[in-house]
Amino acid sequence: MAQNDKESSRTPQEYEVLSGGGAESAEIARQGLSRRQLLRGTIGLAAGLIGVESVGAGIVMIYPTLVGKFGSKITLQPKKNYPAAPLAGFDIEKGKGVFYEYTALSYIVHLTKDTPWQLHGQELQNILDSEWIVQDPTDGTYWAAIYQRCVHLGCKFNFRTDCRSFKCPCHGSHYNNDGEWLSGPAPRSADRFEIDISGKNIVVNTGKLNQHVQHPSPTTLLLTELPVQIPCNT
Ligand code: FES
Repeated sequence: MAQNDKESSRTPQEYEVLSGGGAESAEIARQGLSRRQLLRGTIGLAAGLIGVESVGAGIVMIYPTLVGKFGSKITLQPKKNYPAAPLAGFDIEKGKGVFYEYTALSYIVHLTKDTPWQLHGQELQNILDSEWIVQDPTDGTYWAAIYQRCVHLGCKFNFRTDCRSFKCPCHGSHYNNDGEWLSGPAPRSADRFEIDISGKNIVVNTGKLNQHVQHPSPTTLLLTELPVQIPCNT
């Protein structure tokens, strides 16, 4: 199996246990090594490396005791604790529009009902459905659970309030507030988990990941511009 195929075929649970996410993940993902293997390689003890596939299989079996509830449905806070915001008002420090949830390794995104989508009607609905962006029937707002792992080589990306968008610290991939790819080496838009907003609390199913949101085209683009026009190159 080609290296990239191995990487893309791993579940989020395997990936997180193997690499732990973060900047180190870029090298881990590039080489297809476990964290222990990477450390051994670093100190010159390449001999005796454990095969990734066998490590992965063992980890999957003991995964629940290692990573708690990640990999299943995770009940988060009540919906009222995630206030929606317009694009230019997203502020992760102040808790407006975007929220980091460690247990789900996700960013919860909550867009106002007035979000200026570029598409309308059934065209908009089709793209929202395919990208797992859910409209709340009670107030018209939009929700998504964006997986923190960059789809380039696996670093954890951050929401940058100064950029009003997501930026990856490793190689600069840039994603808009809704997870759409904007620029950089990422081969597609950010992955997102299934989100359930039907109850009192937000529920994220970290066992169901949409890894198929392609680079937006002129006919699928949801948001054309950054919410604020500032350089965001660092
Ligand atoms: S891992 Fe390379 S841009 Fe994110």
